[in-house]
Amino acid sequence: MADTILLTGGAGYIGSHTYVELVAAGYDVVILDNFSNSRPEVIDRLEVISGAPVTVYTGDVLDPAVLERVFVERNIAAVIHFAALKAVGESAEKPIEYIQTNVSGLVNLLAAMKKHGVHRLVFSSSATVYGEPETLPIPEDAPRSYTNTYGFTKLVCEQTLEQVAASDPRWAFGTLRYFNPAGAHDTGLIGEDPNDIPNNLMPYIAKVATGELERLSVFGNDYETPDGTGVRDYIHVVDLARGHVQSVRALIESGESHTVNLGTGKGYSVLEMLKSYESACGHELAYSIAPRRAGDVAASFADPSKAHAILGFQAERDLDDMCRTSWNWVSRLKNT
Ligand code: NAD
Ligand code: UD1
Repeated sequence: MADTILLTGGAGYIGSHTYVELVAAGYDVVILDNFSNSRPEVIDRLEVISGAPVTVYTGDVLDPAVLERVFVERNIAAVIHFAALKAVGESAEKPIEYIQTNVSGLVNLLAAMKKHGVHRLVFSSSATVYGEPETLPIPEDAPRSYTNTYGFTKLVCEQTLEQVAASDPRWAFGTLRYFNPAGAHDTGLIGEDPNDIPNNLMPYIAKVATGELERLSVFGNDYETPDGTGVRDYIHVVDLARGHVQSVRALIESGESHTVNLGTGKGYSVLEMLKSYESACGHELAYSIAPRRAGDVAASFADPSKAHAILGFQAERDLDDMCRTSWNWVSRLKNT
């Protein structure tokens, strides 16, 4: 019988794409989401893509009663924990909410898992735990730090998992440090859909392309990078989703924990991203140079070799594919 995987935050951007890949790989999947940063329509879209009903619990990871119900009613083999608050700027204004949702949410989940004898969890971490990187590409054993409350919560969660793993050999955790997710599903039915003005580059460019925003502000052109603008490792969300399938499979099969980067190993500048998006959408995109954004690093890209060695993971989709699928998604979204 297929293993059942619980996805907290499974209606979100990365969770929804991971749902599709898990179902395609033969897993039964249960979603728990409070829809604080996603729309219920995502579930209908997932039913269209996967061709089968989706099992959803609407609830909060901070609510022990709903966690209890999920673990009593479903025979969960492993959990992938996406549910979190993720806006860096907002995390400075609302540290209590961020620490509560991100850190207490994880601890609640671990308590429920322990009670029900479930010991496998994949955790959504971030390249933000590397702070200002000392070496490029960034290996997993690089020093960890944080520059904002959001980063603090991810670091504390990683450390929490390390403490728990050390307490009992039955626990196995897959800590996945995502670089910069981009793109959307090939169907154009799911993708990133931020409620407010986006903070991140790709969704911002997408809204300039659809005409919802006038121009991109390029945050700094005087970094020590080839064209002076910030360099990041953008990874297609479908590649990222496949990385979760490989991680959860490795946890179930081997019972060994792993911590890996999920990136491509290649860095692209802000202006390169803009040019690539112009090719995808077929028109020029307005931009102006603005001051550097506080807390930004000049360049960040992954050493992806450990994920390849341990999980067999390798990103397959390129920048053109990220921009093409993003454009397909946002132009459909605007017309619906
Ligand atoms: P998202 O906001 O699209 O998805 C998160 C989902 O969790 C949403 O559907 C939201 O409704 C749900 N959620 C939030 N709080 C909840 C709660 N208390 N209980 C139940 N559900 C709750 O975000 P995403 O981009 O898909 O990110 C998923 C995970 O990956 C997060 O943990 C995020 O911190 C991490 N991450 C994201 C990025 C990125 O750039 N998108 C980069 C690194 C790490
Ligand atoms: C940001 C977060 C990081 C988080 C990551 C999630 C900050 C300081 N860091 O990282 O903690 O883990 O998102 O994906 O917010 N840019 C512009 N104009 C814009 C937006 C961005 O020029 O309107 C530039 C940035 O300066 C940067 C690059 O684009 O050089 C990428 O920015 P972004 O998408 O926000 O990602 P990160 O900075 O990597």
